[in-house]
Amino acid sequence: MWYQTAVFYELYIRAYKDSNGDGRGDFRGAIEKLDHIQSLGVNAIWILPHYPSPLQDDGYDISDYYGVHPDYGSLDDFQTFLDAAHQRGLKVVIDIVLNHTSDQHPWFQAARRDKKSPYRDYYVWSDTGAEYPDARIIFLDTEPANWTYDELAGQYYWHRFYASQPDLNYDNPQVHAEMFRIMRFWLDLGVDGFRADAVPYLYEREGTNCENLPETHRFLQKVRRMMDVEYPDRVLIAEANQWPEDVLPYFGTPAAPEFHVCFHFPIMPRLFMALKKGDKTPIVDILNRTPPLPPGAQWMTFLRNHDELTLEMVTEEEREWMWQQYTPDPRMRLNLGIRRRLASLLDNDKRKWFLLHALFLSLPGAPIIYYGDEIGMGDNIQLPDRYGCRTPMQWDDGRNAGFSHAAETYLPVNADYQQINVAEQEADPDSYLNLLRFLLRTRQSEAALRQGDLDWVETGDTAVLAYTRRWQGRWVLCLYNLSGETRTLPGDFINASQPLHDLLHPGQTWQDNVRVCSNEPREWELAPFAAFWLAKEKSAD
Ligand code: GLC
Repeated sequence: MWYQTAVFYELYIRAYKDSNGDGRGDFRGAIEKLDHIQSLGVNAIWILPHYPSPLQDDGYDISDYYGVHPDYGSLDDFQTFLDAAHQRGLKVVIDIVLNHTSDQHPWFQAARRDKKSPYRDYYVWSDTGAEYPDARIIFLDTEPANWTYDELAGQYYWHRFYASQPDLNYDNPQVHAEMFRIMRFWLDLGVDGFRADAVPYLYEREGTNCENLPETHRFLQKVRRMMDVEYPDRVLIAEANQWPEDVLPYFGTPAAPEFHVCFHFPIMPRLFMALKKGDKTPIVDILNRTPPLPPGAQWMTFLRNHDELTLEMVTEEEREWMWQQYTPDPRMRLNLGIRRRLASLLDNDKRKWFLLHALFLSLPGAPIIYYGDEIGMGDNIQLPDRYGCRTPMQWDDGRNAGFSHAAETYLPVNADYQQINVAEQEADPDSYLNLLRFLLRTRQSEAALRQGDLDWVETGDTAVLAYTRRWQGRWVLCLYNLSGETRTLPGDFINASQPLHDLLHPGQTWQDNVRVCSNEPREWELAPFAAFWLAKEKSAD
């Protein structure tokens, strides 16, 4: 299926391009920039929530599921954007927030005012706020509890995120019906699927941690059945920030499938951990702990996204270590994570950036790239919450980085925009932008990298990670020196009589790029942070 081999781009409409000079990005602006997205070589776009919202959680608090936020334009603009993306061969996946609404949603407004309202039962209420004590608090830095007392309602209501995001009551079949209606509405407009937000939390049950409950899975199976019957070829992507064995049930079974794609959360911090430690162990361990997928399913891999770099799926000790290593300023921490952008995390070191991308793009899964990371955009830790990583896209060195003509933009443009912008990087063959295009092109031309099986290759050195991806007789050997030091490999690691082409250095072979040490026994010498994708010449297959 298309989504199994696709590369995705995470697009934040507010940040991308302002077409009407109000300082906020919109769909018309994003249409102007579709050529840029297409030029990267990606296949699909995921857009962050575009619905009307009071923006207490940047759109993840929806007040009308059938509309478009007025900042972003109209439903017509949305449709034009969708059509323009499709004309370029780009699929569009939208966010759907099933777990909760905004407290400004008319359902909640009606529910809190009248116990007898049919909408009262759309939400989860309590007289004491004492139920479900085993459910953890997710927004730890701001929320004291998962229950908040509402004066108007005279009761507590349940919320897993901000208090302005009351959870819907999935024990009420009406809520199911509403959600099905909403999903069909957008599927009928032609969207290619959904990234379903925060799916583990749909149901609550006493005595449990209220995550991953069987009832939640049954609802998700119902959603998938609807998609399979009425909208085949669209995709359902799960945001379930859980361990691989707990995510697996979200794919469902062949008899009762759920999601086509699930984010692989635990691999992400381990890529950063491995790079910082110069040790492949965290990557090898988590991939060994990742169960095989049912047919037709896929992982989604990512380095960064619009949220903090979450450290929920590591041990406490590892989390402390990651904080020590990656948050020299305490403002860089948020909840259980790190609120910095990719380039900053990598010390703006292009060697690390290239290595990490080569690695990430050669792992099993459908990769997704967060807007701005294709040019190594920086962040702004002065801004609160996760906004430091959601600043305007930097197009050129003109006013507001070419994002907007307005006097003021929704968030300040990063100070580095004159050095870091798309226009500047277009001209430089060695820029982040052009390197990413090259990496994506290379991945797209090698089926083994997109869908091959992964087999570890022993290197005898914990700093050197190696594996093959194999697909229908074709293989690529991926080899990475994760450390900032020169490392050596035994001379017989690669049979020198066989010319292996280095796909990451076109026109060159392995032998062109590694030094043979003169000492006996002979060894291959790998430069700090060196990356290779080695393959036989295609005709030799
Ligand atoms: C998801 C989103 C995050 C949002 C939360 C609540 O984790 O990625 O941005 O705040 O759900 O909807």
